[in-house]
Amino acid sequence: MSHFLPLSRVLRLAGISRHALQEMVRAGKLDTFDGMVELNEFLRAFPDTCWEDDGEYRRITEIKEKAFGKRVFERALPDKEVLAARLFELGNEYAAARALLMHYSQVLSWLDEKIDEIEEDKSAETRHALHTLRAFVVRHLAELPPDAEKIQKLIAQERILKIMSAHVTLHPSGLEFSVEGSDTLLEAALRAGVSLNYGCSNGNCGDCKARLVSGEIKKIHAHDYVLSQAEKDNGVFLLCSCAAVNDVVIEASVAGARDIHEQRLAAKVKSVEVFNSQVASLHLLAPRSQRLRYLAGQSVRLSAQGVSGRYAIASCPCEERHIEIQISRNADDAFSELLWGGLKAHDSVEVQGPYGEFVLEDTSTRPVIFVAFGKGFSPIKSLIQHAMSLDQAESLDLHWLADGAGHYQNNLCRAWADALDNFSYVPHTQAADVESTLAGIVGDYPDLHRFDVYAAGTPAQLQIARLLFLSSGLPVQHWHADAD
Ligand code: FES
Repeated sequence: MSHFLPLSRVLRLAGISRHALQEMVRAGKLDTFDGMVELNEFLRAFPDTCWEDDGEYRRITEIKEKAFGKRVFERALPDKEVLAARLFELGNEYAAARALLMHYSQVLSWLDEKIDEIEEDKSAETRHALHTLRAFVVRHLAELPPDAEKIQKLIAQERILKIMSAHVTLHPSGLEFSVEGSDTLLEAALRAGVSLNYGCSNGNCGDCKARLVSGEIKKIHAHDYVLSQAEKDNGVFLLCSCAAVNDVVIEASVAGARDIHEQRLAAKVKSVEVFNSQVASLHLLAPRSQRLRYLAGQSVRLSAQGVSGRYAIASCPCEERHIEIQISRNADDAFSELLWGGLKAHDSVEVQGPYGEFVLEDTSTRPVIFVAFGKGFSPIKSLIQHAMSLDQAESLDLHWLADGAGHYQNNLCRAWADALDNFSYVPHTQAADVESTLAGIVGDYPDLHRFDVYAAGTPAQLQIARLLFLSSGLPVQHWHADAD
């Protein structure tokens, strides 16, 4: 009896990145069938995996989650109705397997009786052959195959993952994510960096409508928005109200920068984090009922106490209500003066936006180079966190050319590099000659045509960088830039 594992659970069980798994499939090192891996094939490809504990995966996840400022990995239980439905499904599988075993046992008893019957009136030679056959069957039933214990542990691990999470595939983008704990499908998508269409996020507007193609979902939050009978018959539901019971395929469109309309909301200052005498982060908390919808890399206008300014967002939409803005100390910028002059926790700040199209190509699997000039690190940080959540790109390389403010989040960048195999960080001290620093970077990528480049800095810095990258083989459509 074959047992198949979906790729999302293979990632968790083997403790490897999505990209590493895709590379194994591409290189023919792991056979898949319809997006699934057969259990024995899994054991062949990952013979050294330890089933006692998924400690390595948990360790990496914890570092990654801490680095992202998101919740630490926890075995959060699903909503109780979803949990009941998953346990019911598991119970059915167990009952079917038990019924099958009882059937096999009956067939064996019947075979035993049949052999007795035949033995009575056959020749000594036939009796000997039947005796040998019976001994063969009894011996093999008593002896467990060498891999039995390993297979048992693997199936147990996989079943636990199946109870704790469900896998979602989106059509037509092909993007995938997992739903864990008591998250709705919308919350899980945003946490995974997938920017689905939505509005109110609490069942009032209908903007998060999607269609269930396969699998089972359950409504876990009541909603005021009324779906027509025709929509319900067609499998249409609200992403912000439902969770996945099992692995599902959903038809839902992914939003681009132009699909997100301008919003205005009253946020509260959570904290001000001063990095040094030149740069500080303003951490804001959006109201529970109205989180800011934006894409990583976009910017917002902040207003408070009669002054305002426009800044790149440094956080990622996967951070839910938390919005981080990094602001330089600048006497000509009234909002910056307000921040440095004593904006404090619980003060109100109006947030308006988002603006800009400096966003990630979220379905690209190409390797990515991020180039941050000075405080251009802010939108780059947002993009990196988004790229890490998506886990799509082959590799992520960050080059940070610091200005007088230095590499003010050096430890964070090093933590990313420690946690992720496909992330590298190179801090550069910005020499007077930016061109020679950039030439050194470009020289390290002889195959630049394969990459996407995202750069943020002043218009002059970006112009030099653009010329160098394009003249060294980067296709123009793979160059993305954001000027301070
Ligand atoms: S986002 Fe408004 S109903 Fe779901």
